[in-house]
Amino acid sequence: MQQRMDVSRRRFLSRIGMVAVTYASSSFGAVAMHDKNMRGMKKIAPNWASPNFNPDVDIELTCRPGEARIFDGRTTGVWRYAANLIKGPENTLTTLPDSYLGSVMRCWQGQKIRIRLRNGLPESTITHWHGLHVPMLMDGHPMYAIDPGETFVYEFEMRNRAGMYFYHPHTHEATATQVYRGLAGAILVNDDEEKALDLPADEFEIPIVLQDRSFDDNNQLIYGGGMHGQMVGFQGDHILVNGRPDYAIDVASRAYRLRILNGSNSRIYKLAWDDASPITVIGVDGGLLERPETKPYVMLAPGERLDVWADFSGRSVGSQLVMRSAPFSGVLPRMAQRMMGGMMMRTELPVGADYPLFTVRVARAVSDSPALPKSLTKIARLGVDDVANPNNPVPIAISEAPMAMLLNGRPYADDDIQPHERIPIDTLQLIEIYHDSGGMGGMGRGMGMMGGMGGMMSMAHPIHLHGQQFQILSRGFDDDAPDSYATMREGFVISGWKDTALVTPGERVRIIKPFGDFKGLFMYHCHNLEHEDMGMMRQFLVE
Ligand code: C2O
Ligand code: CU
Repeated sequence: MQQRMDVSRRRFLSRIGMVAVTYASSSFGAVAMHDKNMRGMKKIAPNWASPNFNPDVDIELTCRPGEARIFDGRTTGVWRYAANLIKGPENTLTTLPDSYLGSVMRCWQGQKIRIRLRNGLPESTITHWHGLHVPMLMDGHPMYAIDPGETFVYEFEMRNRAGMYFYHPHTHEATATQVYRGLAGAILVNDDEEKALDLPADEFEIPIVLQDRSFDDNNQLIYGGGMHGQMVGFQGDHILVNGRPDYAIDVASRAYRLRILNGSNSRIYKLAWDDASPITVIGVDGGLLERPETKPYVMLAPGERLDVWADFSGRSVGSQLVMRSAPFSGVLPRMAQRMMGGMMMRTELPVGADYPLFTVRVARAVSDSPALPKSLTKIARLGVDDVANPNNPVPIAISEAPMAMLLNGRPYADDDIQPHERIPIDTLQLIEIYHDSGGMGGMGRGMGMMGGMGGMMSMAHPIHLHGQQFQILSRGFDDDAPDSYATMREGFVISGWKDTALVTPGERVRIIKPFGDFKGLFMYHCHNLEHEDMGMMRQFLVE
């Protein structure tokens, strides 16, 4: 451990020292190069490569406009990440065929990673490594957004355990639009422990990135939806998997590993096989579970990942299996649901409808298949006795009002750290995420006036916390669960390491999260990206 506190850490601490001091005087004047960048955030000089950092992996990652062939006929204008391996193992980058998505990055725990992010867009941007435990400077905080033509150099050690992570822009008030245009990619981290399990790999390990999009008659992306689109988040009428419509994979009759990421702006899925086979879950956001769990279906909210063991042994060549999003209800505001069919709800693919996601076709028979391991990893379960604040949980109150989805009643602001948002470093914290609008009290008292309307406005929010992965201690309701909850109840995996948790109306989710190693500002927000951009984001100051 001590050895891992290497150059990058020391370098980070010296930098963070500077930023923290600036925060204390509640101004960025000392570090600001220009007053503001294009998005109105305070502008900080981009970070440069450090001569003392000797990377195992060195990647040039350019964001730029481009074209993708999604449908026959005209190509679609997109924004995309173009990655180029300067140094590192040959298999570090894999391109998804015919996709606007960024290359899949394969990394090993312990690697020193340098990524040179070049902004070839017509607006400012910055990239966040969703789920990775990195210093603040390397975390893609919106304050580090770079202008067109600039380069920001990330340097960090891969501390995470094996798992699937996610890179995407985190630009102030432009995360949703930049992701929507195509800026997103998957990171697959491996480590010795996972390697020893010999899980299906190479062609038998398939990344599945789920996104929804809408297109006009010329195959161009449409984004919008007006006020309703902002309130419930963008809902497209086409499902794309790895950037492709009508996605299908040809498989052999053996076990596969499906690495599924919900990269949609706001769409929530209820994954289920169409032949009612259970889903065998072997991992979630932060890597493997202790042992496989079978579920009739699994809820997957934006930002969440799922590691699925899919065994096609014994299935006959020519047969097929469809992964669907099965019907569910209770995640949208009742107010919006009431308007369904009215002019505000125009999508042809409503959230909670029953529709196909992708098809698996058994294309060849093989006699050999690996067996599902009974035990996958060890996870020490954290309990209330382990935390620094057993009687004083850190509140994340979801405040809901028309056009004002907030956390703890406050919108995002870069210099507005509240007392409960100051977290002592190297502590385990109990955090409670709950809906404030149902009159459950908490921080957002100002929302009380919404009281009567609160229930009508209440919807599900995938709450994501930067920094280290957390454990879910409990999910529950103060009052009776709404009837609709029964359509989702069995679809939550609560046993693994997570960085994003879906909190449905009325639900109270208690989590335990470590705040180790790195001081500074770390965001927490709704991963419904329209909500994030609306200000449903706050930050912890780890000090
Ligand atoms: Cu996936 Cu703060 O984001
Ligand atoms: Cu939200």
